[in-house]
Amino acid sequence: MASRHVALFPLPFQGHLSPMLQLADVLHGRGLAITILHTTFNAPDTAAHPEFAFVAVADGGMPDAKDGLGKILAMNDAMEASGCVRDALAALEPRPACLVSDSTLPAAQKAAAELGMPTVLLHTGSAAAVRLFRSYAMLHDKGYLPAQEHELDRPVRELPPIRVSDLFDPSKYPNRETANKVLDMTTDITNNSSGIVINTLDALETPELEAIRDELGASGVGVFAIGPLHKLSTIGGASSSLLEADRSCIEWLDAQAAGSVLYVSFGSVAPVRREDLDEVAWGLANSGRPFLWVVRRGLVVGSGSEDTELPEGFERVAEGRGKVVRWAPQQEVLAHRAVGGFWTHSGWNSTLEGICEGVPMLCRPFFGDQLANGRYVEEVWRTGALLVGKLERSMVEEAIARFMEGEDGAAMRERAKELQMKAMEALGNAGSTQLAVDKLVDHILSL
Ligand code: UDX
Repeated sequence: MASRHVALFPLPFQGHLSPMLQLADVLHGRGLAITILHTTFNAPDTAAHPEFAFVAVADGGMPDAKDGLGKILAMNDAMEASGCVRDALAALEPRPACLVSDSTLPAAQKAAAELGMPTVLLHTGSAAAVRLFRSYAMLHDKGYLPAQEHELDRPVRELPPIRVSDLFDPSKYPNRETANKVLDMTTDITNNSSGIVINTLDALETPELEAIRDELGASGVGVFAIGPLHKLSTIGGASSSLLEADRSCIEWLDAQAAGSVLYVSFGSVAPVRREDLDEVAWGLANSGRPFLWVVRRGLVVGSGSEDTELPEGFERVAEGRGKVVRWAPQQEVLAHRAVGGFWTHSGWNSTLEGICEGVPMLCRPFFGDQLANGRYVEEVWRTGALLVGKLERSMVEEAIARFMEGEDGAAMRERAKELQMKAMEALGNAGSTQLAVDKLVDHILSL
């Protein structure tokens, strides 16, 4: 008889951990028993999820690696060398039907394969990002990469609406070899899986999902678009958050006029240069509009986990109109009636959360998939605008005015509400997401 037990292994970063816990919750809701493997680095709050079993595995030097991609490689190398994932999986009773792994953990997939256990992957980014990261050979062959300065605006004809400036270019990354290895790794792991789960929905990315299904379906890899996971699951932001949210901002929002507040957050890992942070601060302060800004510890490049200092005099100018917190209950904030816009770094979770609350987005992507996400918001869904060019307080001020009060902003707001409806439809009975969950559960039980 098919095993009704599933093991899941998230990458230990906020933007990956939350959707994996949400997926675990969805599978649990369909009657599957759940074991979460996790590292001690950024371990989830196990007490918040008594319905799951948890098994810690060694994180082998991961915390010491210099940057995000370096940490991913260090984690994979350590897991492969120690055999700790294989041992943890082999000890699980009853034997899981499969391992659901983050798409950046090929070492976990190899460990499962050694035990003859299939893998299903969770891609925590968009379908467009899955396609993009599988296209690197083509992008090099056709000369889009390495990117040339004079070609940044060139459209990538094979992947509309992507432009050269939206591509993650390994040659610009400080450690090119690391970047190339991570890209290769994500392609191989997808090809070797029995199925992939993408945290997106059909109505958002129809052509992208079709292309992925055509490509992977031919080799028997199932594709399941079961997003937005944060709405499908009962796990709220607080129980999957690695940081404690400052809830005083909800009280502050309660006192603001409907649709008046710009919520500003650059996610959990994007680094901001000191000089840019100062321009953002003054742009917000001088905008004359209410704002709620997440200034997390370590936000400034090279500041480790230190508190982030704001420019002198900022508080005085912004007093009464601006609220700054170290970490916000983001999903609740976006759903608040006072929030009229979201200035985001365009991480995929934030993008989906903005879409689901019908909030228009001002996008300032930093790296990786964020660049493509911002492009889609501006050109495909047209529910927001990209903020491009050197950050200067006057341009920030003008962009905020156009976005929060101009005609363009109003049109984006309207389209954002329409897109929100589509997302809600996918979640309803017989919606595309619900049907995809049925198929995913059947797939797992057939393994
Ligand atoms: C990382 C990568 O940078 C991104 O490109 C990829 O798509 C996902 O992983 P991250 O910075 O974690 O992104 O951003 P995002 O995907 O948007 O996830 C951030 C999460 O933190 C969201 O779920 C958001 O709700 C939450 N958050 C953020 C809070 O709960 N409070 C905050 O104050 C800020």
